[in-house]
Amino acid sequence: MGKIKKILITGAAGFLGSHLSEKLSNMGHEIIAVDNLIGGYKDNIPKNITFYEYDCCDLDKMSSIMKDVDIVYHCAATAHEGLSVFSPVTITKNVYLASVSVFTAAIKHKVKRIIFCSSMARYGDQKPPFTESMNTKPVDPYGIAKVAAEKVLINLCELNNVEWVIAVPHNIIGPKQKYDDPFRNVVSIMINRILQNKAPLIFGDGEQKRCFSYIDDCLNCLIPMMDQANVNKEIINIGPDEEFVTINQVAEICSNVTGSNLQPIFKKERPREVKIATCSADKARNILNYKTSTDLKTGIQKTHDYIKNRGSKPFNYHIELEIENSLTPDVWVKKEI
Ligand SMILES: NC(=O)c1ccc[n+]([C@@H]2O[C@H](COP(=O)([O-])OP(=O)(O)OC[C@H]3O[C@@H](n4cnc5c(N)ncnc54)[C@H](O)[C@@H]3O)[C@@H](O)[C@H]2O)c1
Repeated sequence: MGKIKKILITGAAGFLGSHLSEKLSNMGHEIIAVDNLIGGYKDNIPKNITFYEYDCCDLDKMSSIMKDVDIVYHCAATAHEGLSVFSPVTITKNVYLASVSVFTAAIKHKVKRIIFCSSMARYGDQKPPFTESMNTKPVDPYGIAKVAAEKVLINLCELNNVEWVIAVPHNIIGPKQKYDDPFRNVVSIMINRILQNKAPLIFGDGEQKRCFSYIDDCLNCLIPMMDQANVNKEIINIGPDEEFVTINQVAEICSNVTGSNLQPIFKKERPREVKIATCSADKARNILNYKTSTDLKTGIQKTHDYIKNRGSKPFNYHIELEIENSLTPDVWVKKEI
């Protein structure tokens, strides 16, 4: 292994941040982790790291723990794309403001490199597969906030000579993902429902097409982003591009792995949901040696095993709806998921 680094990871109680913290800590790095626990699970936080229950938006607190940090991975966010048109203040605050605060503290303390987890939402509704050279065209407040955060990151890093990398994950699945969140994580929601003997819910006709990434495949891209020279100042899609599936097919696989024959229930489509959203992995293949190690069915099986083992749970409506009108999914208004 190379030199031991001091690495600050935000969102460490969350899905991606907790896996990343664990993996980098096992590699011998010193990990400083942050999460305000709006999402994630407290017991996701690895035991052998230094954890602060701080809000990333608090610049003073973020500055207070940034001393001598070499690398920042900014994973914290309320990554609720569908909800963001109905709760734009909460989502924008935890995506845009939180990011600008983390970047400011990091730059003030002269970190070497910042790795920002953006989202495929940056591409919006363009012709798939999305490639990194496409213009950004976000269609909802979540995507807009991610793109705005990217722009501030590049602006401040260029001015202050700090290295930056923008990772663009899409639809990650696996253990430790929050499965009692009614607003996001389709695979985990379906499995949590089926384990409670409730049919999978589908917004629209279920012919939306996506590509799902298993957590380990994303980590294999994120970790070298820490110090690989040729990823500095790059935007890179991470995750597979081999198995495009419809949400109907995802529901079928979730039913198969749980041994259920419950038929999906279809609900009105959600506004601004992009119909076909898939990313090209060519750039990650070229510069990060990306390879898909876990296929979709195995990834869903592993997600199922985690949820089953931990126990299915009622859904927790932990984010308020800021706009309730005829467009708001009634399953959210009536808390029916
Ligand atoms: N999971 C995916 O499929 C996916 C896809 C594309 C992009 N991403 C991005 O990757 C990152 C991680 O996603 P995830 O799936 O692990 O989400 P997650 O919700 O599991 O984890 C995010 C964590 O950030 C924390 N957080 C939110 N706002 C905060 C704040 N203001 N201060 C401190 N902590 C805060 C939450 O409590 C949560 O534990 C996010 O930036 C997300 O936008 C994820």
